[in-house]
Amino acid sequence: MKIFHTISEARAACRESRVQGKCLGLVPTMGALHEGHLSLIRAAKAQCGSVVVSIFVNPTQFGPNEDLSKYPRPFEHDRQLLESEGVEMLFAPSAEEMYPGGETTWVVVDGLSEKLDGRSRPGHFRGVATVVAKLFNIIAPQCAFFGQKDAAQLAVIRHMVKDLSFPTQIVACPIIRETDGLAMSSRNVYLTPEDRRRAVVLRRSLQRVQQDFHARQATSAQLVSAGKSVIASEPGVVLDYFEIVDPDTLDPVDRITQNALVAVAAYLGTTRLIDNVLLVPETK
Ligand code: PAJ
Repeated sequence: MKIFHTISEARAACRESRVQGKCLGLVPTMGALHEGHLSLIRAAKAQCGSVVVSIFVNPTQFGPNEDLSKYPRPFEHDRQLLESEGVEMLFAPSAEEMYPGGETTWVVVDGLSEKLDGRSRPGHFRGVATVVAKLFNIIAPQCAFFGQKDAAQLAVIRHMVKDLSFPTQIVACPIIRETDGLAMSSRNVYLTPEDRRRAVVLRRSLQRVQQDFHARQATSAQLVSAGKSVIASEPGVVLDYFEIVDPDTLDPVDRITQNALVAVAAYLGTTRLIDNVLLVPETK
């Protein structure tokens, strides 16, 4: 696997791979790789002739009191995982390489960036959209792979690609879970054993909503209230949001006549976890 730490090296290698006529797929990550990330890489390998993974803990998407400094960075372990997955190229720039200083240009997806995680984490999606736009400009991938786990991020990226006419196809991949149902996340390692056990409540709350939705014609308000009551039943889990929204606009929906996203975020101690499920109305 070739590893690039500079923008110019990565750009040159990706250009070369395109000259050879290969379809280039990008999987952007912040490292601390787990099966969720690997599922994106496998999807990319299945669809593209050449795969680039980026590992960059992007400082601009972390708030001042968030976990930037303690975010796990097991680079050597990640490198070995990528080697064993047969990834050809890894782009792992430093913060100085990506942000040498004096930056004044940002990508802001208006409206969407203030919903769900964007509301709880001001500036987060500005950082995400900016770094993803930079990665798209450096790598110039035909396809880029993102997890449904970060559903709001996916909506923000899709809008950015459409609005700024990026020639990149966005491919969404399903959520990969631990055996007890907890969505895999690089942040799960922060959890104490007790909180790790409690964390499954996020998934349980979504399953409850799914069951109620299919059992009876409940309104969003009723479903949200049922989901919240499941979260409240687990002591020590502090709800951030529980919402049912349009997966494209992230606006709340009242009656579920089209696909709707049920999204939850909660704190266990200082660790913030997110999860979601899509409600698909039965066609008559
Ligand atoms: P990170 O949290 O490392 O996630 C990288 C990609 O892996 C994202 O597209 C995310 O949705 C996906 N992913 C994470 N956990 C997953 C799971 N359990 N199942 C399926 N996919 C999963 O998301 C980011 O990094 C950053 O915001 C980034 C897009 C790289 C920009 O900095």
